[in-house]
Amino acid sequence: MCGIIGYTGYSDARGILLKGLKTLEYRGYDSAGISVYHKDFRECLTTKCKGRVEDLANKATDIKGKTGIGHTRWATHGGVCDENSHPHKFGEVTLVHNGIIENYENIKNTLDISEKLKSQTDSEVAAALIDRFFTGNPEKAIIDAVKKLSGTYAFAVMFDSIPDTIYAVRNVSPIVCCQNDDGAYIASDIMAIGEYSEDYFVLPEFSIAKITKDGFDIKDFDGKPVEAPMLKLDWDIKNSGKCGHPFYMEKEIMEQPDVIEKTISNHIKDNMPDFVCDKVDDEILSKCKSVCVIACGTAMHAGLIGKQLIESICSVPVSVHMASEFMYSNPIVDEDTLVICVSQSGETIDTLEALKYAKSKGADTLSIVNVRGSSIARESDNVIYTDAGPEIAVASTKAYTTQVSVFYLITAKMAYLRGNLNYEGVTNFLTELQKIPAAVQEIIDKRDEIHHFSKSMLSAEHTFMIGRGLDYPALLEASLKLKEISYIHSEAFASGELKHGTIALITSGTPVIALMTQQYLVSKQVSNIREVQSRGADVITFVRKSLKNDELVNYFELPELEDDFMLIPSVVALQLLAYYVSSDKGLDVDKPRNLAKVVTVE
Ligand code: M6R
Repeated sequence: MCGIIGYTGYSDARGILLKGLKTLEYRGYDSAGISVYHKDFRECLTTKCKGRVEDLANKATDIKGKTGIGHTRWATHGGVCDENSHPHKFGEVTLVHNGIIENYENIKNTLDISEKLKSQTDSEVAAALIDRFFTGNPEKAIIDAVKKLSGTYAFAVMFDSIPDTIYAVRNVSPIVCCQNDDGAYIASDIMAIGEYSEDYFVLPEFSIAKITKDGFDIKDFDGKPVEAPMLKLDWDIKNSGKCGHPFYMEKEIMEQPDVIEKTISNHIKDNMPDFVCDKVDDEILSKCKSVCVIACGTAMHAGLIGKQLIESICSVPVSVHMASEFMYSNPIVDEDTLVICVSQSGETIDTLEALKYAKSKGADTLSIVNVRGSSIARESDNVIYTDAGPEIAVASTKAYTTQVSVFYLITAKMAYLRGNLNYEGVTNFLTELQKIPAAVQEIIDKRDEIHHFSKSMLSAEHTFMIGRGLDYPALLEASLKLKEISYIHSEAFASGELKHGTIALITSGTPVIALMTQQYLVSKQVSNIREVQSRGADVITFVRKSLKNDELVNYFELPELEDDFMLIPSVVALQLLAYYVSSDKGLDVDKPRNLAKVVTVE
């Protein structure tokens, strides 16, 4: 969850580190710090503070040196304060860490260093352990130390007595590396260093990299050289700023017509869903007896849509699992199961661990991932990439709609391979699917109307969202969006379920969002709306054009698509609602409190 960066080369490290940290800030934004090797003092000098990278930049004004490491923190061990910020220094050793050292209390006691520690972090204990093992050979000290650690880590380490050199090592938590004529760079993700080279590699686990201005020397723990496969960055990093939008979230919402179109068209060939470019074999879709989707948060909500589509169209049973619960629930997974992991970042540790578990049970694995070369992509037997491009806002928008787009494509392909849809059926399905980008654009063009509705919610403390059929999982996602960025408590309900308890919470003026896009359920949804209205709720209905009726007073009209295809436009409308509530409340839309974009701790 934390972001780490390192640079050694011919330029001033300060600017490169701060710029990289600014990009990495979405991984955690409790505090930030940098250490730069100072050749006159022959020491790594550290500046760090609680707060944002901007606060650090104001503090770290006269740092000089050409080698350094930096960190942006999402607190796990110890509160948010200057002392707990990284980098941590112990003796000779200065380091930054992403991950969690589970046995740090034991190590602390064994080393008997409690008195000397300045922070409450597990990371400072790791620095002390490396320092304890250091007798002149840095690689050996780091290897000896990490062999004693349990947990996950990505470390970038510097030693006072070894100028202009950084060492990196990792277990699970990622480190990517690149170089150019100006030096060598490492970071938690490629976004932070992609501007320096489009060719990069992921540091292999359990190997150690010695990084100097001339490049990387990578060895395994037995001292044998390690080759890391090169990857190519295919995201347009130059276009990754806010491009005039006040927040990334707004920009990313607006990008959806394009990225959905791209994701769909990149996976259709000769009027058929096609995953050949992803090297996904049709057989995994045709032979499985069941599908098991594993993901977290928004990605799991995409999986819930996948479930409804695959079950109703392909008649294949699908279970959807929260990744964090998966392997503790004795799941029914074997050689006949296709496990589909969904992740924007490809680094969510719960999803990654669940994927490994599913593989160990013999399941075929397929991941739907946005970040190329990420851990989940590498671990999975098969990968379908979404073409969302970099998603920076913590609240996921375009990643979700492209994940759902991939589920539509998988459904159509599976249905064809299994005989649920013939060629004409698939053609009709894809024709309707390809109308989604225009429908999303129609909503974006009417965003002022949604903004108008958002005004009535600014002072709400609670809200409920109700819908039936596919509208229900759409609302689970809409509800998560609203609560994570506006801090309004929101719950989504299958409309028929509300009266089994929760309707007790509806009183005069309670805001309720109703979604009505499913033709076959319209009369039932109308009754459910009446039920809450008659208890005083202020209902705003997001309704598909053809399903409008005279009773609706406050409504937003959604474009017209067939039932199964209404979901993405509906969610985009509700993403906009959440966005306007948050921005009108004056909140930091892109960096909601307590959250981080990439969740790399269990
Ligand atoms: O990177 P992932 O897709 O694996 O992330 C999963 C969740 O952490 C993520 O979707 C989270 O729920 C979002 N912040 C929601 O907007």
